[in-house]
Amino acid sequence: MVRDTSVNLCGIRLQNPVIPASGTFGQGFEMARWYALDKLGAICLKGTTLEPRFGNPTPRIAECTGGLLNAVGLQNPGIDALVSKVAPHVRSLCRTPLIANISGFSVEEFGICCEKADACEEIDLVEVNISCPNVHKGGMSFGTDPAAAAAVTRAARKALRKKPLLVKLTPLVTDITAIARACEDEGADALTLINTLPGMRIDIRRRKPVLANRTGGFSGPALLPVALRLVNLAAAACKIPIVGCGGVASASDVIEMMMAGATAVQVGSANLRDPMACPGIIDALPALMEELGIEKLEDIIGII
Ligand SMILES: Cc1cc2nc3c(=O)[nH]c(=O)nc-3n(C[C@H](O)[C@H](O)[C@H](O)COP(=O)(O)O)c2cc1C
Repeated sequence: MVRDTSVNLCGIRLQNPVIPASGTFGQGFEMARWYALDKLGAICLKGTTLEPRFGNPTPRIAECTGGLLNAVGLQNPGIDALVSKVAPHVRSLCRTPLIANISGFSVEEFGICCEKADACEEIDLVEVNISCPNVHKGGMSFGTDPAAAAAVTRAARKALRKKPLLVKLTPLVTDITAIARACEDEGADALTLINTLPGMRIDIRRRKPVLANRTGGFSGPALLPVALRLVNLAAAACKIPIVGCGGVASASDVIEMMMAGATAVQVGSANLRDPMACPGIIDALPALMEELGIEKLEDIIGII
């Protein structure tokens, strides 16, 4: 029997739910040397700000049990380069829906970047990141307060006349449902959960933090149970679709995320370990669906 892996995300039909997560897939086009990008459900592009950014000083990555810490600090060429060069380049390589990932240091910056992304024909959806732990101004502070999350969502919604709006949330809150509902009420079309969890490591010989930034965002397999719980809570609290993210590294993790309530699933750190992680997961889905008696992947969204 043919297994249907397709999902509908904000009115856009994805051939499968697997999306490389922002910041873990280069600018997208670099990955075309490993496999055809058309295989993916969608592609989430690297975090982009109004101005180009060099990012944080190195070291920016620390290995940990069950994952890694990063403090890249939103290194990117700026929104003008994204819309004029990066997105057209990725589009020339595939027809896969492209998601721009936007960060801002003020509500106004989010609005301007979203307006520019809206005018870019190669971009299909826009994800606003109100959850970055690695910048000292803005970033995660927008995602930890319902009023601030609402203000960014409102500005992004106003700027995005044509394209679906996803808001990406941080796990570092006591009540995810308050933030999720605030974004939904202001017109978010979907929510992405979760970004990294703030953490730190210490080099005991140098007696210094491993990361030059002192702290970073923890990601990888150890995050999966944390993400599953938050996806499940947000899915129960909201009517809009949830994109699950955090620790996904296998087809079975994708199924878990979808059973918890995710409509689509982002794969992050797994791409850094193995550039073939996403195609491997996509290839493994039909056999696992058969084993579990799932005909249509969409049938299992939020069944628990
Ligand atoms: C090196 C690195 C860079 C990242 N950059 C971004 C970014 O620019 N924008 C964003 O929204 N999330 C960024 N993230 C967070 C991931 O998209 C994802 O939310 C997080 O890593 C959890 O998923 P994972 O456990 O599958 O990695 C980054 C993560 C890593 C590891």
